[in-house]
Amino acid sequence: MIQNDDYTIEETLDPRDWDSMRTLGHKMMDDVIDYISTVREKPVWKHMPEAVKKQIRQSIPMEPEPSENIYNEFLENIFPYPSGNIHPRFWGWVIGTGSPMGVLSELLSAAMNSNTGGLDHHSAIHVEKQVIEWFKEIMGFPSTSSGLLTSGCSASNLIGLTTARNTMASYNLRKKGIQPGKSKMTLYASEEIHSSNPKAAELLGLGSDALRTIPVNGAYQIDLEALEAAISRDRRDGFTPFCIIGAAGTTNTGAVDDLNSMADICEKENLWFHVDGAFGAWAVIAPEVKHLVKGIERADSLAFDLHKWMYMPYEVGCILVREEENHRNSFSLTPAYLVHGTGGQGMTGGDLPWFSDYGFQLSRGFKALKVWMSLKEHGIHKYGRLIQQNIDQVNYLVKLIKCTPELELTIPASLNIVCFRYIGSDPENTKLDALNKRIEIELQERGIAVLSVTLLNNKTVLRVANTNHRTKREDFDILVKEILK
Ligand SMILES: Cc1ncc(COP(=O)(O)O)c(C=O)c1O
Repeated sequence: MIQNDDYTIEETLDPRDWDSMRTLGHKMMDDVIDYISTVREKPVWKHMPEAVKKQIRQSIPMEPEPSENIYNEFLENIFPYPSGNIHPRFWGWVIGTGSPMGVLSELLSAAMNSNTGGLDHHSAIHVEKQVIEWFKEIMGFPSTSSGLLTSGCSASNLIGLTTARNTMASYNLRKKGIQPGKSKMTLYASEEIHSSNPKAAELLGLGSDALRTIPVNGAYQIDLEALEAAISRDRRDGFTPFCIIGAAGTTNTGAVDDLNSMADICEKENLWFHVDGAFGAWAVIAPEVKHLVKGIERADSLAFDLHKWMYMPYEVGCILVREEENHRNSFSLTPAYLVHGTGGQGMTGGDLPWFSDYGFQLSRGFKALKVWMSLKEHGIHKYGRLIQQNIDQVNYLVKLIKCTPELELTIPASLNIVCFRYIGSDPENTKLDALNKRIEIELQERGIAVLSVTLLNNKTVLRVANTNHRTKREDFDILVKEILK
């Protein structure tokens, strides 16, 4: 028998004083609402001073600190130095804006702390199932297809391409691995495809060389003749083509491949059709541009994000797979301690697969709540209008560029992306690459706007990718004025 135990020393991470925690929570909420609602008045970005970085470098905290002190440290050293993408003049790379409801829903899902990898008969699973049903319908996928929310499109591409590789292999690749003796599996995408795809080919043990990068045409879309020629060449040389990746919106220029023709080629050649639609897939809900992504509904797997052009807070993306069985057969692995789907009661009784049967994560958070709440708060029509608004704003910027002699449009804008450069009075000036990079940096350092740069035809160009629901047209007037300055 245990004696003299002092149970009063048992510990927990819960506060002793819930009222103080409530007061602190209310203060945080006020600060958050102030922070977001006044973002336009602040610089888009502020360089984090070395002194502040030093403040953050501390030894491991061994003993507790009062919550108020920790929060004050956050207010002083962390909150003022964000990456800036909630600001109306942030247009760098392809980074979404987030929304106030998205913030609140993150609080609620953290409070529930549901693990959505598995277990059934709990609400988070049913919310995720519901949002995936919505996405299937929006993207034109059959109701029998499967889906999974992911950390983003890199994970979605990896899951889609894993399913493609495992389904198209002529043997049990999950069990046997890549077989040196077998003819090498190859896949195809334009040279403009996002880096997460060659990364996936590497992770899948195919090697990035297995991803044949096909030249693009003048509109930066995959050259279909070159694609077909590469497939024939590989077949002749003893390779095993298995997949074509279409781009619904390339990162560099926003170009959308001819998805319908690619789907035709896949049908003819018996290849898997994967579409990387990280942001561009959402053109499906924008009335004036949805024709551009026609054919997306024919994909075998479709990867897209919610944290880019659907303005939801990081992280959340999605993968849809046309044939549910292929998806599940690529990922499901059930040891005795995770047996499920037996039917009936309890959290293992549900008779449908778990979400962990469709991806590489077992433990997963409740990402679906922010998706569910955001979609319900605004409705899909409003998201469609916002996406169209971003495109119209970019076309307005194009007009400004065209009537400003010191600026040159590099290529016509596609979807929400425009690439241009400052040329001053001399387009042949050899210092223009350095000058445009300098402009990008100064706009950031002065807190005016965040753009990024890229290389097109070996020239450094400024690049605006508008996935920002806070942007107004006048923000582009400011941008052009400040570039000239
Ligand atoms: C076309 C495209 N695909 C994939 C990705 C990777 O997505 P994520 O950053 O959500 O992992 C991006 C990111 O910008 C992208 O633009």
